Amino acid sequence: MGDFSCTAPFLLYPSIFLILLFSTINHSFHFYHFPSVITSNHTKISRENHSEILVSPSSSPAIDFHNGSFVSSGVQNKSQFEILEEGLARARAAIRAASRFRRSTSTRAESFAPKGSVYRNPYAFHQSHIEMQKRFRVWPYREGDPPLFHKGPLNSIYSIEGHFIDEFESGNSPFLARHPDEALVYFLPVSVVNIIEYVYRPYIDYSRKRLQNIVKDYIDVVSTRYPYWNRSNGSDHFLISCHDWAPDVSAADPKLFKHFIRVLCNANSSEGFQPARDVSLPEMLLHYGMLGQPQQGQPPNNRPILAFFAGGEHGFVRKILFKYWKEKDDDVRVYEYLPKTLNYTQLMGQTKFCLCPSGYEVASPRVVESIHSGCVPVIISDNYVLPFSDVLDWRKFSVHVPIAKIPEIKTILQGISVEEYLTKQRRVLQVQRHFVLNRPAKPYDIMHMVMHSVWLRRLNRGLSLQ
Ligand SMILES: *[C@@H]1O[C@H](CO)[C@@H](O)[C@H](O)[C@H]1NC(C)=O
Ligand SMILES: *[C@@H]1O[C@H](CO)[C@@H](O)[C@H](O)[C@H]1NC(C)=O
Ligand SMILES: *[C@@H]1O[C@H](CO)[C@@H](O)[C@H](O)[C@H]1NC(C)=O
Ligand SMILES: *[C@@H]1O[C@H](CO)[C@@H](O)[C@H](O)[C@H]1NC(C)=O
Ligand SMILES: *[C@@H]1O[C@H](CO)[C@@H](O)[C@H](O)[C@H]1NC(C)=O
Ligand SMILES: *[C@@H]1O[C@H](CO)[C@@H](O)[C@H](O)[C@H]1NC(C)=O
Ligand SMILES: *[C@@H]1O[C@H](CO)[C@@H](O)[C@H](O)[C@H]1NC(C)=O
Ligand SMILES: *[C@@H]1O[C@H](CO)[C@@H](O)[C@H](O)[C@H]1NC(C)=O
Repeated sequence: MGDFSCTAPFLLYPSIFLILLFSTINHSFHFYHFPSVITSNHTKISRENHSEILVSPSSSPAIDFHNGSFVSSGVQNKSQFEILEEGLARARAAIRAASRFRRSTSTRAESFAPKGSVYRNPYAFHQSHIEMQKRFRVWPYREGDPPLFHKGPLNSIYSIEGHFIDEFESGNSPFLARHPDEALVYFLPVSVVNIIEYVYRPYIDYSRKRLQNIVKDYIDVVSTRYPYWNRSNGSDHFLISCHDWAPDVSAADPKLFKHFIRVLCNANSSEGFQPARDVSLPEMLLHYGMLGQPQQGQPPNNRPILAFFAGGEHGFVRKILFKYWKEKDDDVRVYEYLPKTLNYTQLMGQTKFCLCPSGYEVASPRVVESIHSGCVPVIISDNYVLPFSDVLDWRKFSVHVPIAKIPEIKTILQGISVEEYLTKQRRVLQVQRHFVLNRPAKPYDIMHMVMHSVWLRRLNRGLSLQ
């Protein structure tokens, strides 16, 4: 590989997407805006010295990849890199146009188009999803051996981590690049769960050091072997993990990870999770051999229980919840251990509002479970950056109860009118598709939504070689 020591700062497009026009309903619960102000039209691509990654037209099939949108003539002089950046510029322009004219440029008859107030900007999102499918390609590095790399848990609470790794490893992902030069982002196929499972055995040492060193070594290897990390300082690289410890991966070397995209279930904004750079990953509890498909539950007029929760006393939020509500009220039904005679799934399906308190960490699989069972999620948490907040307006289909208001849960929920409840419940059903895990992934499902979150962050950066 060529000499990439002469890299230039990547450019941040300040006016584009998630750059954070906060609209908070209170300061601890952030909703991040998808494009509302998209004004400029930068295409700052340096034409100098990109020869290192220049793809010679005769030898490279890469240019016409995926029925490429870039097959157009006159590209012979452009590096693959420039072509990709130009594609991104076109995507930005198309998204801006869709937002301005309130319609997407889709020409296909699509089975689904985002509509309605659950989306911050359905037109921009629609166009962005179309552009993503057309252009977004990921290169999972091949270095490293299983089980620490290329393999992850497919069941239980952290399963979403393994499913992502496996989706790329399976070769079925429509987002796979055929060659690293084709990729817009680079995936570190590291499983934090497996590192903890295999390296920290027996569990006597809780120091994060070994975990940190493994990931750092991995970055050392790929940044020495390939030009991609150095040219962007990692801003087009990402890792996916649902483990509680995952945010700590970057703690030992904040400088190295400054721009790196961390896709985390543990999305606690007061612990260094940065919504403009990182991605909030929904937690899902998957049972062996089963993907999490919606159970639907009862229609809204047949949900006699006002509020429901059952789960262990994990973390301080639940301690407070139990103090006020554990087996104390007929309308707010809170259990630590659900009596054997009761069926959890059935109860979720008979409840209007399902309580989703944080556990040991901010995320809870109950958010997805509520949505799957047609139950309006009640997010009981502070500093939790909810998944897909760039795109979805959670206020429209959920309720937020700050930790300090746990004693008032019943009053708050009873204060919601029947009409408002019915509207929210209908919207829960509307967003279900975004929380369904399919293997292989399907447009607008949970995997595409997570990919879209990464895509948005990449779209917000223009890389430049000088
Ligand atoms: C990467 O970071 C180093 C040190 O912080 C800096 O000197 C360099 O310009 C950065 N490179 C890019 C491409 O931003
Ligand atoms: C944006 O870029 C496109 C293509 O380069 C150009 O045609 C258009 O005039 C530009 N728009 C603005 C506002 O600069
Ligand atoms: C471009 O590369 C040439 C040859 O490697 C070198 O002489 C020149 O200084 C480089 N220009 C820049 C701006 O880096
Ligand atoms: C485009 O894709 C279709 C279907 O996947 C394929 O039949 C066709 O040959 C492709 N065209 C090019 C130019 O690759
Ligand atoms: C390639 O670049 C050279 C020099 O910059 C220019 O003369 C030539 O027309 C370019 N070819 C194409 C196909 O753009
Ligand atoms: C990237 O930077 C590191 C640290 O500065 C260096 O060791 C490595 O060789 C560089 N990689 C490439 C491909 O030049
Ligand atoms: C609980 O109810 C669900 C939905 O009705 C059903 O599919 C499941 O088999 C029940 N589980 C048990 C343990 O009875
Ligand atoms: C979120 O982070 C803050 C600051 O470290 C911490 O006090 C709090 O316990 C975390 N939230 C949860 C639910 O773990």
